[in-house]
Amino acid sequence: MQIPTFKLNDGHEIPSFGFGVFQIPADGSTYQAVLSALKLGYRHIDTAEAYFNEQEVGKAIKDSGIPRDQIWVTSKLWLQDYAYEDAKKTIDNTLAKMGLDYLDLYLIHQPYGKVDEAWRAMEEAQQAGKLRSIGGSNFTPKLWAKWKDAFANVTPAVNQVEFNPYFQQRPLRQIMAKEHVALEAWAPLGQGNADLFQEPVLQRLAKKYDKNVGQIILRFEHQEGVIVFPKSVHEARIKSNAEIFDFELTSDEMDAIRGLDKGQGMHDPDAPGVADSLLSAFDVHAND
Ligand SMILES: NC(=O)c1ccc[n+]([C@@H]2O[C@H](COP(=O)([O-])OP(=O)(O)OC[C@H]3O[C@@H](n4cnc5c(N)ncnc54)[C@H](OP(=O)(O)O)[C@@H]3O)[C@@H](O)[C@H]2O)c1
Repeated sequence: MQIPTFKLNDGHEIPSFGFGVFQIPADGSTYQAVLSALKLGYRHIDTAEAYFNEQEVGKAIKDSGIPRDQIWVTSKLWLQDYAYEDAKKTIDNTLAKMGLDYLDLYLIHQPYGKVDEAWRAMEEAQQAGKLRSIGGSNFTPKLWAKWKDAFANVTPAVNQVEFNPYFQQRPLRQIMAKEHVALEAWAPLGQGNADLFQEPVLQRLAKKYDKNVGQIILRFEHQEGVIVFPKSVHEARIKSNAEIFDFELTSDEMDAIRGLDKGQGMHDPDAPGVADSLLSAFDVHAND
């Protein structure tokens, strides 16, 4: 499988398609899923400190036998570790946990708290060669404006946000395009949202191209220039989700899918109290 790459603002070429491991448990399932994905041709894995499965991702990468420089590896720093010294330590811990010398991309997972200190630690780790590209996640237009000054030295290479046909992030994409920040989609399949999969326009196109609805959605996102990494624990889906590079939607079909946009998603990063609820949902130091 030949996966196209997109060029980031720092010059690095990121595979535009990959595999996400949010909510895959670290009981051997992450290891199996990542190994399957790599065997099926995926070369980009998206994990995070707060997914608790970085170690299994690293082991699968090692055991796959694929040279390290052929796999793009992303992880993310969790909110609890944004203080400068904590961020520095966490980057080293993540590399040790994953058995890697460097990460291709490292993200500020949530735009709250000591973002400026975390970013400084990430810039230094980038200088030291531990992180190739650095970026952010869940930055809305409002949160981007709030933190923009913290990014004075290095502009984030990506902003990873909720994105799928129901939530197409139009205002944010305009700002990101102006700043040359690539958009990465989380929940590219709407986390399996049944309503989305039933949309008549998507069903019609699936029939036309002899594809399934998931493939139509992922192809749409790819043609929109968005980096995607759908998650699945089922080998048949891991395989089919990647089979999106042998057909092309027409501009009318792209417009029809653009018409599904509801302008809002499942998660609102601007809502009051979000940081606290995230902190109580994911405690990365519970077992320290
Ligand atoms: N930065 C952030 O805050 C953030 C937040 C969420 C996610 N992410 C990243 O983005 C990645 C993708 O997002 P996501 O995992 O939340 O959601 P997603 O990829 O949109 O959807 C995954 C869900 O869809 C199902 N699915 C997968 N392929 C399917 C298909 N072809 N047809 C029907 N259902 C299918 C999966 O079930 P099965 O596993 O049972 O197949 C799973 O329940 C994550 O894994 C993570 O790496 C980042």
